[in-house]
Amino acid sequence: MILSIISAIGKNNEIGMKNELLWNLPIDMKHFRKTTSGHPVIMGQKTFESLGTTNGVLGRPLPNRRNIVLTLDKEFKRGDCEVVYSIEELEGRLKDTMEDDEEAFIIGGGQIYKLFIDKADRLYITHVDREFPDADTFFPVIDPTVWKVASEDKHAKDEENIYDTSFVIYEKK
Ligand SMILES: NC(=O)c1ccc[n+]([C@@H]2O[C@H](COP(=O)([O-])OP(=O)(O)OC[C@H]3O[C@@H](n4cnc5c(N)ncnc54)[C@H](OP(=O)(O)O)[C@@H]3O)[C@@H](O)[C@H]2O)c1
Repeated sequence: MILSIISAIGKNNEIGMKNELLWNLPIDMKHFRKTTSGHPVIMGQKTFESLGTTNGVLGRPLPNRRNIVLTLDKEFKRGDCEVVYSIEELEGRLKDTMEDDEEAFIIGGGQIYKLFIDKADRLYITHVDREFPDADTFFPVIDPTVWKVASEDKHAKDEENIYDTSFVIYEKK
């Protein structure tokens, strides 16, 4: 299995505030959907809650993807997605259900990125060319001795997307 991380980060690795994103960038939403569709997505319970509600209850699985939520709360159960209670349980589950050449995506948030950055094979990072001083959640430092840029795709801001962005794929050196 290929384990990838996908995230959009500000100039200081900012990723969120008050359990929401810091920007509305349709270009990045499209990139995220295109990159992750058809693949398993793995997220922390906070990020799952940030995606919306299902029948009035916090948490919304992303369509067209196998959704796996990480929580430490043994009481937390869902009928509409998979729930795992530890990294070991997640790793066992992925090993049993995924082929060697299949790609799974860690989609956040801050706590979960920190747990997986050393285990990931690849990072899909949208660099948002702005500082966000109110952020309360951050992506870990991308160590240049560990990661090399494999591709870079820059987009100037436009009417819909108010910040310059750059889609960078990092591979482990
Ligand atoms: N910019 C981006 O690309 C991006 C992407 C995703 C999210 N975000 C933002 O990130 C923020 C949320 O991030 P966050 O760091 O607060 O939360 P998070 O990483 O989404 O989820 C944290 C939760 O994961 C569970 N967890 C943590 N460690 C675990 C472990 N070892 N085993 C099993 N479960 C574990 C716990 O759930 P329980 O409390 O249920 O035990 C913990 O509260 C929001 O602002 C969101 O909008 C940004």
